[in-house]
Amino acid sequence: MGETRPVILVTGAGGKTGRAVIRALIARGETVCALVHRSDQVCATQGLGAQEIVVGDMRDQAAMDQAARGARAIYHICSNMNPDEVTIGQVVIAAARAAGVERLVYHSVLHPQVEAMPHHWQKLRVEERLFESGLSYTILQPAVYMQNVLAYWNQIVEQGIYPVPYAVETRLGMVDLEDVAEVAALVLTESGHVGATYELVGAEPLTQTEVAAILSRQLRRPVRAQAVPLDEWERMARASGMSHYAIETLLKMFRYYDRYGFWGNSCVLTWLLGRSPTTFSAFVERTVRNPIPNL
Ligand SMILES: NC(=O)c1ccc[n+]([C@@H]2O[C@H](COP(=O)([O-])OP(=O)(O)OC[C@H]3O[C@@H](n4cnc5c(N)ncnc54)[C@H](OP(=O)(O)O)[C@@H]3O)[C@@H](O)[C@H]2O)c1
Repeated sequence: MGETRPVILVTGAGGKTGRAVIRALIARGETVCALVHRSDQVCATQGLGAQEIVVGDMRDQAAMDQAARGARAIYHICSNMNPDEVTIGQVVIAAARAAGVERLVYHSVLHPQVEAMPHHWQKLRVEERLFESGLSYTILQPAVYMQNVLAYWNQIVEQGIYPVPYAVETRLGMVDLEDVAEVAALVLTESGHVGATYELVGAEPLTQTEVAAILSRQLRRPVRAQAVPLDEWERMARASGMSHYAIETLLKMFRYYDRYGFWGNSCVLTWLLGRSPTTFSAFVERTVRNPIPNL
């Protein structure tokens, strides 16, 4: 084990979660090492203020060991719908142990216990590995990001349609990714969070019709939620080149949402932030005022 650098390693750093976590850490004056997947992600990550960038594959133990060497802490984000999430979790845990990091924070998901959603179930298996690791860990379990709506922003703004691949009555509890990133920076830099598992849910669950009504109010134009049949969604996903695993997993997630909804409780997030979490209405208002940082 070498000398400890005052650096926090963020994995999966090129995605929307990684970018938000890096911004929050830099705002706190921390030094960040970002592990990105591709060299074309380096420039943008430097632009966020990350002082060190490593390009590598999270499945590669040697690359992960090198990135983690001497780091003070690790914030681990696996990419979305990654069939290797458990293997990657094990690689990160081994690297964290070899580097002797003070803490490892894992970006999990709300209700990883749901076996019907394979990407949740994989995260639960990683959480189990953390319990067994002997490391000082913290687990964050965010709800569905409000930012996911931005994938349909043009359609919402231009056509007044908010398309969802489940019934419009489906109730989802969402969270602002900026609130999640604030908590990530907090648990990485303040004491008292070792061994904790925190569910991060922003506000009261909303039906998709209610989501559309809020969009409509903030955009000052009619917006309606429209259910997209799953076979139509699947056709579009296959045409876009999405992987078979991601399509199958997302279909399972949509069916689960449709049947049960997906929501939790905002008390833990309120306590961690020391304020009320961002409401969906406030999120949309902020996005309308200043769309660039969220996109
Ligand atoms: N979206 C939500 O509502 C939500 C809610 C709760 C939790 N989460 C969880 O948040 C996590 C992050 O989601 P995200 O959308 O921010 O991530 P993402 O964009 O899917 O992935 C993050 C980064 O990881 C990179 N990556 C992929 N495979 C890699 C590999 N083998 N080695 C190294 N890097 C690799 C990706 O690069 P490429 O671009 O090259 O693939 C991407 O830049 C996911 O685990 C998701 O389940 C999401």
